[in-house]
Amino acid sequence: MANVWSSKITFEKGELHLAGLSAKSLGREFGTPTFFLDEDDFRARATSWGSALTESFGAAAGSVYYAGKAFICTEVLRWVAQSGIGLDVCTGGELAVALAADFPVSKIQVHGNNKSVAEIRRAVEVGVGTIVVDSLIEIERIAEAAAAAKKVQAVLLRLTPGIEAHTHESIATAHEDVKFGFSIASGAAWQAVVAVRQHPEIELRGFHGHIGSQILSMDAFGIAADRLIEFLSLYRDEFGYELPELDLGGGYGISYLPEDEPLLPAQVLPALHRAVTTACAKYSLELPRISIEPGRAIVGPAMFTLYEVGTTKEVLLESGKTRNYISVDGGMSDNIRTSLYGAEYTTVIANRTSTAKVRESRVVGKHCETGDIVIRDIDLPEDLVPGDLLAVPATGAYGRSMASNYNHVPRPPVVAVKNGQARVIVRRETEADLLALDM
Ligand code: LLP
Repeated sequence: MANVWSSKITFEKGELHLAGLSAKSLGREFGTPTFFLDEDDFRARATSWGSALTESFGAAAGSVYYAGKAFICTEVLRWVAQSGIGLDVCTGGELAVALAADFPVSKIQVHGNNKSVAEIRRAVEVGVGTIVVDSLIEIERIAEAAAAAKKVQAVLLRLTPGIEAHTHESIATAHEDVKFGFSIASGAAWQAVVAVRQHPEIELRGFHGHIGSQILSMDAFGIAADRLIEFLSLYRDEFGYELPELDLGGGYGISYLPEDEPLLPAQVLPALHRAVTTACAKYSLELPRISIEPGRAIVGPAMFTLYEVGTTKEVLLESGKTRNYISVDGGMSDNIRTSLYGAEYTTVIANRTSTAKVRESRVVGKHCETGDIVIRDIDLPEDLVPGDLLAVPATGAYGRSMASNYNHVPRPPVVAVKNGQARVIVRRETEADLLALDM
């Protein structure tokens, strides 16, 4: 049974505590819904991915790039920088947060399948370490931007190795029929190699592959590594030298439910090392420098969402059974993952113990939509009442970062907690914020 809670969560007399602060006191001070971020847990995960890469790969260790799309704000980026790892951004907006946080630009890697001319120019001008190229059109844009800035821009080519990873369709990325990358099988990848070599302003460092997200088994990563390394060998065969870098992307799964066994750095990096060394031996290549891009695995487990129960309602089902609908004060505006991907979560009553019988329940939000579900099916005590607090673990990745203002619900704050101290690092939106854009 994996633990769904971050490392500084404890339960004292049935009440959830984070780094010594009780759910009740946190709820009183910061309101609900709120994302609470376990700072020590986040920092430890960022550090352990970095050190596991170095331990497994030694001189062939490239960089861990934290995938900022999972969650970023300036404070969290300062922690990322302090942990020594790099950052993956995929839009100008994420790059702007990184620049505002004074993130070391040479450790930034820029992604995106439709980077605008302005985004590319800015990335080149500020001096990002790497741009991961996703289309032929982009190659011309990078060359122009680099020529204008009188720079040589380092790039990787994003390749689709043609793998079906076992995850939800919307978050699987490396089969053939997707918008990302250059397909190896169709010849597009080779075409991109030829195109990029036309430009002295661009330095091709190697290849990149990202096969999907929330993947709980290492098999697909090994197959992807083999295909990318085979492609590195084709490059060597044609041009007579080896490219020095390979980025294997992110996608390492976490436990949303106690039965999910997460992919942890101590297991992932040795497995990647085995796959990479085997493939390099097979194709007679030196080990390239290996980079990875975990997002969810660093921030996902580090946050939980605290909601307050507002209403409960018993609904008679066709089967003759009943279901208890528990409505909380957030929903699809702070966690769209249940409706979008059928994601599963668990929850506990955070403010007290209950010895009441459990009942089939559904935790729903406050939005004007039937699909506004936080947890579709869960057994919860039948004595849940308005005012009770529900804590939903593992909401750090793609929760706040995908939050919306649907129904004009202000987005929740993020509160960092460490050693008995809690501080707001992203404040709650207000009604004034909601009106601020109206002319
Ligand atoms: N690198 C690249 C190129 C990516 O596209 C992604 C995620 C990552 C790294 C980080 O993947 P992670 O380690 O976080 O799984 N909104 C979806 C996930 C979309 C992932 C998009 N790309 C969700 O809520 O599950």
